[in-house]
Amino acid sequence: MSIKVEDMEYIEAHLSRVEKEKLYGATILVTGCGGFLGYYFMNFLHCKKETFGIKKVIGLDNFMLGKPIWIENLESAPGFIIRKFDMITDCILDIPEAEEANYIIHMASIASPTFYRKYPIETLDANVWGLRSLLDYYKEKGIKGFLFFSSSELYGDPDASHIPTSEEYKGYVSATGPRACYDEAKRFGETMCMLFAQKYQMPIGVARPFNNYGPGMRITDKRVPADFAKAVYEGEDIVILSSGSPTRTFCYIADAIVGYLKIMLYGQYDYFNIGIDQPEISIKQLADIYVQAGREVFGYEGKVCYQTSEDKDYLTNNPERRCPVIDKARQKLDYAPSIMVEEGVRRFLQFIKESDKGDFIW
Ligand SMILES: NC(=O)c1ccc[n+]([C@@H]2O[C@H](COP(=O)([O-])OP(=O)(O)OC[C@H]3O[C@@H](n4cnc5c(N)ncnc54)[C@H](O)[C@@H]3O)[C@@H](O)[C@H]2O)c1
Repeated sequence: MSIKVEDMEYIEAHLSRVEKEKLYGATILVTGCGGFLGYYFMNFLHCKKETFGIKKVIGLDNFMLGKPIWIENLESAPGFIIRKFDMITDCILDIPEAEEANYIIHMASIASPTFYRKYPIETLDANVWGLRSLLDYYKEKGIKGFLFFSSSELYGDPDASHIPTSEEYKGYVSATGPRACYDEAKRFGETMCMLFAQKYQMPIGVARPFNNYGPGMRITDKRVPADFAKAVYEGEDIVILSSGSPTRTFCYIADAIVGYLKIMLYGQYDYFNIGIDQPEISIKQLADIYVQAGREVFGYEGKVCYQTSEDKDYLTNNPERRCPVIDKARQKLDYAPSIMVEEGVRRFLQFIKESDKGDFIW
C-alpha cells in the first residue's frame, strides 16, 4: 500500500463514527486548496467521498505560487469544483455553488515565512479581509462548521515559563517585525472569528497548527522540513541556516488533518492547538533524522552542514522554542497524534520516492 493510501486510511480510522456521519450529504468549501495542507484535505475528501456520502467539494485558490498538477487531476473528479479564485479581490457571489456549502475551511494564506514576507500585504489581506468576506457571506446561512486556520505563530516567542504553550497563553508578538504580516493577521482573524461566533452563533473552530510536515509539502517551499527533503531527494548536503539549536515538535500531516477535521466537525466555537507534544527536538536533530531516513529510503550519502542565509531577516523573530500543550484537543476532540518524527520523516521521503513529481514539486 502506498504512503498516501495508508495515510488516508489512518485519517479515517481516527475519526469517530459520529464525526464521519456528519459528513453525509455535506458540501465542503475549501480555500487555499492548492497548498500543502490542501493536498491531504482534497485527497482525503476525494478518496472518501463515496464512503462518507459527501455531496460536493468546492476548492478555491489563486495559485499564486503555481498550480500543482495534482489539483488539475481533481478538476474532472465527480462532485469536485475547483476554481482559480483570489480571496482578496474576487467575489464569493461569483461561485454559485458556494451557497450550498455547510462546511467551510479557510486556509488561503501562504504559510512559508520566506514567501509570506515576499507578499506581506497579500498575506495580511487573505487572513483578514478574505476571512471577513467569508464570515459575512456565511453568517446567516445556518452552516454546520467553519474552520479557520490560525497559527502557533500567534504566540510569538514565548518565555521559558510558557513552553509547552497552552491555548491560554496570550502571546509575545512583534507588531512591526518582518513576520508581523502573518502573526498579527492571524491574531486579528481569531478576534473576528470570536466576534462572529458571539454575534451570529456561528460554529467556528479555530486551529492553531504547530509545525506540520509530510506528503503534499512542496519541496521548494522553503520551510525547514521541505528544504531537508529537497536536499535528500537531490543527493545534496543538508544545509542548516541557523545555529541548529532552535527546537520544535514536528507533527506529521496525517495526524494534523485528523485534528483539523475534528475541529471542523465539532459544531461550536472554540480554538485548539493542533500539533504533537513530543519529542521537542532541535533543527540539528531533525537534520540527523533526515540523514538517517534518507539512507534507508534513497541510499542517501550526504551530510549536515551550516551556512548563513542570504536573507538578512531569515531568523528575525524566529522563536527559539515551539512546543504545544494539546490537552484541550485531547479532551474535547479525542485528538491523539501518534506518528513520531522519525517515522513521519521516513514516510515523507518514501512518499517522495513513490509519487509522481507533480505531487511534491511545482
Ligand atoms: N503547515 C503548517 O505547519 C501551518 C502552520 C501554521 C499555520 N498554518 C496555516 O494553515 C493554512 C494552510 O497552510 P499550508 O501549509 O497549506 O500553506 P501553503 O502556503 O502551502 O498553501 C496556502 C495556499 O493558499 C493559497 N492562497 C494564498 N493567498 C490566497 C488568496 N488571496 N486567495 C486564494 N488562495 C490563496 C496559496 O496559493 C496556496 O495554495 C494557512 O492558513 C497557514 O497559515 C499552517
